[in-house]
Amino acid sequence: MKKIDILLLGAGGREHALLMKLAESPRAGKLYVAPGNGGMLQVAEAAPVSQDSPAEVAAWAKDNGIGLVVVGPEAPLVEGVADAVRAAGIACFGPNADAAQMEGSKEFAKKVMARANVPTATYRSFTDRTAAEAYVRELAGPCVVKADGLAAGKGVIVAQTTEEALAGVAQCFDGAFGAAGQTVVIEEMLEGPECSLLALTDGTTVVPLATSQDHKRAYDGDKGPNTGGMGVYSPVPAQLVSAEDLDTMVDVMRRVVAQLKADGITYSGCLYGGFMLTKDGPKVLEFNARFGDPETQVVLPRMHADLVEVFLACDAGNLAEDMVSWDDDWAVSVVLASAGYPGAYEGGKRITGIAQAEQQPGITVYHAGTKLVEDGDLLTAGGRVLDVTAVAPSFAEARERAYAACELIDFDGKQFRTDIGARAL
Ligand code: AMP
Ligand code: GLY
Repeated sequence: MKKIDILLLGAGGREHALLMKLAESPRAGKLYVAPGNGGMLQVAEAAPVSQDSPAEVAAWAKDNGIGLVVVGPEAPLVEGVADAVRAAGIACFGPNADAAQMEGSKEFAKKVMARANVPTATYRSFTDRTAAEAYVRELAGPCVVKADGLAAGKGVIVAQTTEEALAGVAQCFDGAFGAAGQTVVIEEMLEGPECSLLALTDGTTVVPLATSQDHKRAYDGDKGPNTGGMGVYSPVPAQLVSAEDLDTMVDVMRRVVAQLKADGITYSGCLYGGFMLTKDGPKVLEFNARFGDPETQVVLPRMHADLVEVFLACDAGNLAEDMVSWDDDWAVSVVLASAGYPGAYEGGKRITGIAQAEQQPGITVYHAGTKLVEDGDLLTAGGRVLDVTAVAPSFAEARERAYAACELIDFDGKQFRTDIGARAL
């Protein structure tokens, strides 16, 4: 079996989890990361390229005999990194720029959903501020205001009142989310528990992965501002997502990929479906063009697959359902964040206890915002610092293990939610 060298782009917990799974593959040769983090750089070498530059990534990959480039985050995909890598004759995991519009433009995604007849919130989109304000007043109640483009998970205002919605519209047009906010999508507010479904696809075959549930709000009891995600578990129990709901969600993923293909766009990579389980059935909240973070940190540990083979198959167009199977275990991951996150936070705090935590049964600690320094110390270097993931035969045990491990790890200002999975359990 020929080994191939791999370049992985990104620096979060998601990328650390991807890296560990890629490293397990018998096909994995040398592993490079750009930029990586304190955990990733313990198992891979840094590649001196900017992850958002299609030309730099493609040229470096070619010069260094890379056989597979794996793109973790959305920004490089929207910039066209996958297009450039493929044009250089190198296999790439992640959609081309046109397909990445499923995440890069909420309006684009809504139009695809309408053509594919997929259930989602009703919406209107605006480039004119006065028209947007008039629509919000006409709705006269709860609605959701979204900046159209990429805003690192922050461009969504869930407004209970007209005043909150007007403030959201103002934020978008006043440039709080940069260019992303110059087109504004205003949609119906959906209610119910959320459920994420990731799917791998080569543009034709769609392989759904296990369900998971993120916790987006910063504080216990789903209070406080939206974040990138404070904790997650997998799978979502049948009491929350029925077999019928799951069928609907899988069907949505298949219909969207087929619709894109009919539109002349091959979607190759991971498609992330964010769903609200409403009383009228699952409805799409959003699509992302990549693995979820922190969803990946609970989905991959339960997955049996040769990730290198699977990613190559997504690129080559020969993905097959039987390349992936699942553990019966449960996984829970708790995010340890810096004080102040998702607002301003300080980096550079010394982290202790990771090795001790990883000696506990079923525990893996994925690094998100960490940095290794010369004396071998590990320092905080981001809002979300670590993802403490536990796998166990029961949901309750996975939760207990994860929280026991969180207590063993320390850094100045450590904050985390204490109720990840509590409601579902
Ligand atoms: P998005 O980035 O579009 O997924 O939005 C981020 C979060 O905002 C979602 O995970 C939901 O918690 C919330 N959200 C987005 N759209 C809606 C909606 N139509 N109704 C209620 N909540 C929403
Ligand atoms: N956990 C939410 C996301 O990855 O977008």
